[in-house]
This record gives sequence, C-alpha cells and structure tokens, in this order.
Amino acid sequence: MSDRDVRIYEVGPRDGLQNESSPIPTDAKLRFIDLLTRAGLREIEATSFVSPKAIPQLADADELMAALDRRPGVRYPVLVPNARGMDRAEAAGADALCVFTAASEAFTRANINMTIPESIDAFRPVIDRALELGWWTRGYVSTAFGCPYQGEVGEAAVVAVAQQLHELGIEELSIGDTIGVAGPSDVRRVVRALDGAGFAPDRLAMHFHDTRGTALANVAAALELGVRCFDASTGGTGGCPYAPGAAGNLATEDLVYMLEREGLSHGVDLDALLVAARHVSETLARPLGTKVGQAGGWRLP
Ligand code: COA
Ligand code: ZN
Repeated sequence: MSDRDVRIYEVGPRDGLQNESSPIPTDAKLRFIDLLTRAGLREIEATSFVSPKAIPQLADADELMAALDRRPGVRYPVLVPNARGMDRAEAAGADALCVFTAASEAFTRANINMTIPESIDAFRPVIDRALELGWWTRGYVSTAFGCPYQGEVGEAAVVAVAQQLHELGIEELSIGDTIGVAGPSDVRRVVRALDGAGFAPDRLAMHFHDTRGTALANVAAALELGVRCFDASTGGTGGCPYAPGAAGNLATEDLVYMLEREGLSHGVDLDALLVAARHVSETLARPLGTKVGQAGGWRLP
C-alpha cells in the first residue's frame, strides 16, 4: 500500500445495525452486505457471535454467515467475545474475527460483563485458535477517548490495553471513540502515545463516532499523523446498547467524499455506496441522515 491509499473498514452490518430495536430480516442484511461489496468495500464486518440476549438484533449470525455470498478478495470479520462465540464462528465458516475490550473498566463491565484483565483472559484461547486456523484478527479498544460511566480516559489506559491485545498475537488494533467525544487534539494525544509505545500510526485503525460532529475532523488529524485505516458505517447508523448516547458511526459516504477531495485512494465508488446507504434507510424506514447521503457527491452534470 502506498501512502496515498486508505483502507475503509465497513462496520455497518455489525456496529451499524446492532442497536436497532426492530428486527431486521436476515435477507435485508445480506442485501446490504452485497451492495457494500458492489460499491468496492473489501473489509465488511458482517455480524457478531455474541450472546443473543446481549445483542438480539444479531441473533441470526449463524444463519447470515451460512447464507453469505463470499466474494474473493473480500474479508468478512465477525465479532467474537468468548470460546462459545469462537465455536459458532468456526462452524459458520468465518475466517476473520475481532475481539473487543475497552480502555475503561466500567464500560467493559457493562458491555461484556468482564473486567479488562478477564476480557484478555477470555480472548486468549479465542486468538490462539484463530491463529492456529490462520484467521485474520483484530482487537477493539473501545472508549479510548471517553467512557459513558467513568468520563475522561487517559492515553496511558489505551496504551496498556493495546499492549495486552498485541501480546495475544492480534494483527490489527482499532482504537474507538465509542461515544463520540474526541476532538483532533485528543486524537493526536492518543495516536502519539501509541506511536511512542511502538504502535506505528500506519498500522492502527481508528473508529470514530460522529455523535457530536467531530468524526471527520478527527479523521483529518489522524491522516496527518499517518493513520491509514478508518472504520465507518454506511448510512451512518450505529450505537451500542451499553454506551448510552452513542449515536451513529462516522458515515462511510461522508468519509469517502472527504478522502476523494484529499486525493487519497480508497477503492469505493460513491454512487454505488449511496445505493447501499439508501437500502439501509429503506430497511430502517427512516430518512438517511448523513451529510453526503442527503447532498450526494459533487460532480457537474
Ligand atoms: N454466543 C451465544 N450465546 C452465548 C455466548 C455466545 N458467544 N456467550 C454466552 N452465551 C450465552 C450463555 O450460554 C448464557 O445463556 P443462558 O442464559 O441461556 O444460559 C448467556 O449467554 C450468558 O452467558 P455467560 O457466559 O454467563 O455470559 P455473561 O452473561 O457474563 O455475558 C457476554 C458475557 C460476553 C457473552 C455478553 O456480555 C455479550 O455477548 N456481550 C456482547 C456485547 C456486544 O456485542 N456489544 C457491542 C459490541 S461493542
Ligand atoms: Zn462504532
């Protein structure tokens, strides 16, 4: 990858939909993933093998993965919280997974009913098995900028969790602003601290939520520091039931538009992506709330 290439890691089908209260038919989710693939996305987080009681919306993970039309060259990671989830993911034919913990104890407890050290212990057999199978692996560090229960989160806590995930042998870390509180200075503070601990920016992924309108400013700050992978959700959906107030993820269409204006390549066709965004809005029966979703791209007729 050149310095002008940016990876867009699509989280719409998982992070985007997980908090929707009305059940979404599996077929509509599959159609969404298909439209994302057609738009050129090559990393699409498909679903979660978590407890169906914790995330009822994704209780169809086994069925969805079995029916998924996997395209060559596309990665479809799934979320796995424990050994039980790993068994399910394996049976469903997954080959890429994400584990998830957080930089704040209170959030980890609410989200996965574990302390941070317990979460690392729970992930160890999962990651060992994934590595044995040759799967791609990712670790989320949620609430890296602020916690809905604890408030501010210092960069030292982020670095400590990143180190523990790295020691498990995880390939990529995604640093999450789960409740969308960060500004560009926070991004610089955290990315520099991680860099100082040996996590080079070009190997990190950043996961911003646009809850307070700062997501693209945060992307711009991260780009300047050399970060080249961003998580985003087509249609701007998203939120976590255990993160009160966590509104949408950064919208993929907003990200794509900005990357285009910056002359960075990302492999996504904006018009085709807007078809996927409209599918989300129709499925959820509410208007598309994203900036570029409303305005469209900008090209003279
Ligand atoms: N898949 C399916 N069911 C699972 C499961 C998995 N991976 N892990 C646990 N369960 C079931 C158990 O069998 C048990 O079911 P029962 O009540 O019918 O006996 C129930 O879930 C509780 O299991 P337990 O091991 O006691 O876990 P817990 O209640 O401490 O919950 C997690 C821990 C991690 C399983 C749960 O908190 C979870 O799935 N969280 C995910 C949250 C999430 O996805 N957040 C959004 C991402 S940021
Ligand atoms: Zn998110």
